[in-house]
Amino acid sequence: MRLIAIVLFVTLVMTAGTAMAQIATDIKTAADMPTATDIRKAVQEAYEKFKDVKEGATADYIPELAKVPSELFGVAIVTAKGAVYTAGDVDYAFTIQSVSKPFTAALVMQQQGAQAIVDKIGVEPTGLKFNAILATQIIPQVSVNPLVNSGAIASVSMVRAKNAEERFNKILSFFNDLSGAKLSVIEDVYKSEAATNQRNRAHGYILAASDRIYSEPMEAVDVYTKQCSIGVTAQQLAVMGATLANGGVNPLTGKRVIDNQYVPKVLAIMMMAGFYNESGKWAFTAGLPAKTGVGGGIVAVVPGKMAIVGFSPRVNDAGNSVRAMKAIEYMSEKFSLNLFGSGK
Ligand code: DON
Repeated sequence: MRLIAIVLFVTLVMTAGTAMAQIATDIKTAADMPTATDIRKAVQEAYEKFKDVKEGATADYIPELAKVPSELFGVAIVTAKGAVYTAGDVDYAFTIQSVSKPFTAALVMQQQGAQAIVDKIGVEPTGLKFNAILATQIIPQVSVNPLVNSGAIASVSMVRAKNAEERFNKILSFFNDLSGAKLSVIEDVYKSEAATNQRNRAHGYILAASDRIYSEPMEAVDVYTKQCSIGVTAQQLAVMGATLANGGVNPLTGKRVIDNQYVPKVLAIMMMAGFYNESGKWAFTAGLPAKTGVGGGIVAVVPGKMAIVGFSPRVNDAGNSVRAMKAIEYMSEKFSLNLFGSGK
């Protein structure tokens, strides 16, 4: 009897041990990072594969953007551990444009907590274009989310500062910490947008009319315009993304820039609204939180692993860079990075 009990006990322990080992292997597989060689190869492959794609056109509603050479194309990956892989035009400084928006939202969270964004701006996707006035009329949260223009202007207005200059400098300094670089405004693009941004000024006044802007409206629009004109290279943008992938610590400088607790909040907004009226399609294909800009940059974040950046000035009707999307989708597929997948 005692012998049977011992045999049963040993069998039980061994079975449990095997099951635990299987779970551990499964977890390990799901969390596996591709090797350095594989990433290096894939970045080059993505560049070669999509460099001749001609779809889309350089944005011209900001006149100076139309002058950016449309052939430029770069792909960069920076891992959460700080390894850098690049191909193509990754050292060309382009305007960050709307890719700036989630980072300013992160700054606001740093200053006032994540709930302030929910209460004072909103976090719902609009399903409409990035600059749709209509969204501010039909959705109860008047400024809707920090990634469309109205919400981004509100977000800028929430950055605590005593005047416009200090507000912009706080944003720039935060972006410097995120990128580990000394960034600056591309003045020609700033002046060009400032002279033609009537639609954003309309957003400012609509927000003011419904008490959803938190500094003088035209001042907020101007700081927002300047923020959008900050120049970044694809490689610098990938470091900004890698800071999110690394739980808020810049993996190159080791500096904590964003509290760990705010990173999932920023990524959630990027997942739901990073591609505006194409956010659903993007979730369906790449399955990664990401943000686009009409300057041609897109940053995608794979939490805990890496940031993937594509830069190419030709954008589609939604304002999203065609080659950058393709390069990131390629990487997501190749390394099974889709957040909704099992990682295999
Ligand atoms: O406010 C604007 O229209 C531009 N500064 C930014 C728009 C933008 O990048 C849209 N995203 N793809």
